[in-house]
Amino acid sequence: MAVSYKDLGLANSKEMFAKAVEGGYAIPAYNFNNLEQMQAILQACVETKSPVILQVSSGARNYANATLLRNMARGAVEYVKELGCEIPVVLHLDHGDTFELCKDCIDNGFSSVMIDGSHHSYEENVALTTKVVEYAHANGVTVEGELGVLAGVEDDVVAEESTYTRPEEVEDFVKRTGVDSLAISIGTSHGAHKFTPEQCTKNEDGVLVPPPLKFDILEEIEKRIPGFPIVLHGSSSVPMDQVEIINANGGDLKAAVGIPEEQLRKAAASAVCKINIDSDGRLAMTAAIRKTMAEKPGEFDPRKYLGPARDSLKELYKHKNENVLGSAGKA
Ligand code: G3H
Ligand code: 13P
Ligand code: ZN
Repeated sequence: MAVSYKDLGLANSKEMFAKAVEGGYAIPAYNFNNLEQMQAILQACVETKSPVILQVSSGARNYANATLLRNMARGAVEYVKELGCEIPVVLHLDHGDTFELCKDCIDNGFSSVMIDGSHHSYEENVALTTKVVEYAHANGVTVEGELGVLAGVEDDVVAEESTYTRPEEVEDFVKRTGVDSLAISIGTSHGAHKFTPEQCTKNEDGVLVPPPLKFDILEEIEKRIPGFPIVLHGSSSVPMDQVEIINANGGDLKAAVGIPEEQLRKAAASAVCKINIDSDGRLAMTAAIRKTMAEKPGEFDPRKYLGPARDSLKELYKHKNENVLGSAGKA
């Protein structure tokens, strides 16, 4: 039997996005695959009074089991009440690649889905996205589409280079598909190695500085679809302090580069109203686990290394909400 997100107490993102565009901030969309990640996200967002989008990728569904994940999200609603601040919680499918996957999520309590047809031809993307929108809207669920391809790995599809979103396509795409938000490609990419060292310059401390995002493309898109909710994927900043902790404790992450926080702040002040962050959380957890393992080699209780990892993750998310996305206090 189908379960509606409304029965689970989850929120729909439509109103959230309208407020975010108007208020010049972005809603955090944080990926989770396990209990500790979910706890850290919710604790951080409750403490900063931020609305939140909990994102589940198909990889997360395969890893953790789809039934468990959606029941965790049901628990999330109860948990935020228990923490004392009823922030709105959206459960979102990240990078859905087929109609069937989106339908399965909609039928199982997701309040928002992404259909990522960006690897298809334009017309195929329009057709697939339209089909998902029709089913989703009949169930009150919101849909994110994508135009343009991010460099890096998107659900097992590897693109060597970004194909930036073509502003001349956005109006037609939004009109014909009926999507509620649009993910665009303006130079962000997935993972912890967003640029090669050759694409970067070096500052006086020898730190790699990436090329700026294509704000001219974003501005052109905003002109063509004023006020329409825009989404940025691949928006981890790859904090160097976390990379250094990983490398100092047996890790080997070379030439990791992310998107500078000030560029994300600038994007959040525009029509960008959802910012996706996953890799930074992976780095923070890995750094804390490696450090604990190195400092306490006799420790074998998972709570003793997952606990500090969860605390570090929570601090990272609070920092994002307060200092990067501007979502703190907006719940
Ligand atoms: O954009 C991809 C997200 O970071 C999810 O990654 O597919 O490895 O779960 P994943
Ligand atoms: P990062 O790899 O930059 O965290 O991007 C995550 C993302 O876009 C999830 O959809
Ligand atoms: Zn993504």
